[in-house]
Amino acid sequence: MALYSEKVMDHFLHPRNVGVIEDADGVGEVGNAKCGDIMKIYLKIDNEIITDVKFETFGCGSAIASSSMATEMIKGKPVTEALELTNKAVAEALDGLPAHKMHCSVLAEEAIKNALEDYQNKKK
Ligand code: FES
Repeated sequence: MALYSEKVMDHFLHPRNVGVIEDADGVGEVGNAKCGDIMKIYLKIDNEIITDVKFETFGCGSAIASSSMATEMIKGKPVTEALELTNKAVAEALDGLPAHKMHCSVLAEEAIKNALEDYQNKKK
């Protein structure tokens, strides 16, 4: 069996939503101390709806695929729904990740939560 699903390979080779949003309403950055990988998420939010999302990931293939899939999953969604996104849901949407690569999907969940937190702090 191949180590990575077709979906993981597709999102790794053709990542969606790569880039920067200059006037983002929320920015989140997280890193994994063990592997040294870093992920940054930019959100544009209008009326509590995520209208645009971009990411930059300096990391492994699974981290790139996870961020690509996670951004697709929250685009156009309300903030409340995005807050509930779990790394498990991201991994499932990718048709699974090898056990030792699950932590890469955690980065995506954390980066999104971080960006949403930044958005909520800015609103205050
Ligand atoms: Fe570091 Fe995948 S090995 S995020």
